[in-house]
Amino acid sequence: MYKIAVAGTGYVGLVAGVCFAEVGHQVTCVDIDEKKVALMKSGVSPIYEAGLTELMLKNYASGRIDYTTDYKSAYKDADAIFIGVGTPEQPDGSANLSHIATVARQIAETIEKDCLVVVKSTVPVGTNDKVEQFIQDFLIRDVKVDVASNPEFLAQGSAVDDTLHAERIIIGTESKWAEELLTKIYRPFHIPIVSVNRRSAEMIKYASNDFLALKISYMNDIANLCELVGADIQDVAIGMSFDERIGNKFLNAGIGFGGSCFPKDTKALDYIARQHGYELKTVKAAIDVNKQQKRVLYEKASKRLITFNGLKVAVLGLTFKPGTDDLREAASLANIPLLLEQGADIYAYDPVGADNFERLYPAGKNGTGSITYVAKIEHALKDASVCFIFTEWGEIKAVLPETYKSLMRTPLVYDGRNIYHVQKMQDAGVEYYSIGRKP
Ligand code: UGA
Repeated sequence: MYKIAVAGTGYVGLVAGVCFAEVGHQVTCVDIDEKKVALMKSGVSPIYEAGLTELMLKNYASGRIDYTTDYKSAYKDADAIFIGVGTPEQPDGSANLSHIATVARQIAETIEKDCLVVVKSTVPVGTNDKVEQFIQDFLIRDVKVDVASNPEFLAQGSAVDDTLHAERIIIGTESKWAEELLTKIYRPFHIPIVSVNRRSAEMIKYASNDFLALKISYMNDIANLCELVGADIQDVAIGMSFDERIGNKFLNAGIGFGGSCFPKDTKALDYIARQHGYELKTVKAAIDVNKQQKRVLYEKASKRLITFNGLKVAVLGLTFKPGTDDLREAASLANIPLLLEQGADIYAYDPVGADNFERLYPAGKNGTGSITYVAKIEHALKDASVCFIFTEWGEIKAVLPETYKSLMRTPLVYDGRNIYHVQKMQDAGVEYYSIGRKP
C-alpha cells in the first residue's frame, strides 16, 4: 500500500482520497481552507454526496485518511501526489490553471523523495507536459518526479460508487516507472486500466464528456423537431436505444445539460481547437443547442401567458440534476432571473439546493418580482398560476397529477424533465407542456 497525498478536496479530490483510503492506501487530503479541514476531520463532508460521509468516518477512525492545510507535511514523503483542484472556466472558454500551478510549485519546493505527481483535474491537452516542466524548474532537491494524467469520470450524486466501480481507469504516462506505480496504486480497485500517453489521456477526458454533451444536445434538437412534426421523443429514444451502437443511456431530452463539467468542457475543447486554428463544428453545435434549450420552457410559457407580473409561479427543482446541491449551470439559473424580471412571485422548492440558491437570490423582493423558498412542494403549488419543473428529484416525481389540479389556481405545468405521462396529466385536468412531446 502507498502513501498518497491529494491536493484539493472538491468532488474530484475528496472522493478520490476517500476511495484510495477505502482500498487500503494511507491518504492525506490537503486543502487551503482551514474551516473545511476542521469539518472533514469531524466527519462532515463539504459536499452532498451519497455514501461519502460513511466512508469518511470509517477511514478517519481507522487512521487511513487525514485532512490538513499543511501541504508540506503531506507532500514531503508521499509516493504519489494526486492533484484534484479546480480548473474553472475563464470568460473566453479556456481553463484557468492557476490552482494547478500553485500546487505544482508547492510540490517542487517540498518533496524529499522520488514522487509521482498525478493530475486528476480536467486540463487542456499538453498541460501535464507543462506541469512536469514547471515542477522541474522549481525543484529544490535531487529527487525524481514524473507527472501522469489520470482523468476522473465520476458523476455528481453517484461519485463514490462511480469511483469504486468505475468502468475504466485511464492512465497517461511517459515512463515505465510512472505507468507501473500508478497501475499498482489502482490494482486494489480491480477495474480495467487503459494505459496511454499523457496527451491521449487528457484528450480522452474531453472527448468523453463532449461526446455525452453532444448526445444530450442531439436528443434535445430532435425533441424540438418531434414537437413540430407530432412525434414523441421518449418513444423515439426507446426505439433508438435497442441499437447497441447507440445504447440506452444519455438519451433523455430535457432542459439542457448543466453542472460543472459538460458546459465547461465543451467550451474548453472548442477553445483548444480554435487555438490550433481548427473549428470543432459538432461541439460548437452542442453548446449552441444547449444555450437555446435552457430557455425553451420559458419561451413556451411566455407565449401562453400575457404576463408573469403578479403571478404566483411554482418552481420545482433548482439543482442541475438530482442527488446534488450543486447549482452550477442549472436550468433554474437561466430561467428564474427572467421570471423575476417579468415580475413573477416565485415559490421555489428543492430538497437540498434551496439554501445555495438563497445565497444567490435572497428571499424577498427582487426587482419587480419576488422569491420565497418553501420546504414543502404543496406550499409552492398552492394557488400558483403556473408551475415549472427544472429538476427530476424523486420527491417531485412523486407528486400526483391530481395534486396540481387541486392545489393550483390554474393547473398549468411546464415540465423540463418529462417526468409525467402526457395523457395522465391531461386526464387529471392539468394543462401540461413538456419537451419533445405533443401537449
Ligand atoms: C459528468 C459526466 O457524466 C461524468 O462522467 C464526468 O466525470 C463528469 O461530468 C466530470 O467531468 O466531472 P455530471 O456533470 O456530474 O457528470 O452529471 P451528469 O449526470 O452527466 O449530468 C450532466 C447534465 O446532463 C445534467 O444537467 C443532466 O440533467 C443532463 N442530462 C444527462 C440530460 O439532460 N439528459 C441525459 O440523458 C443525461
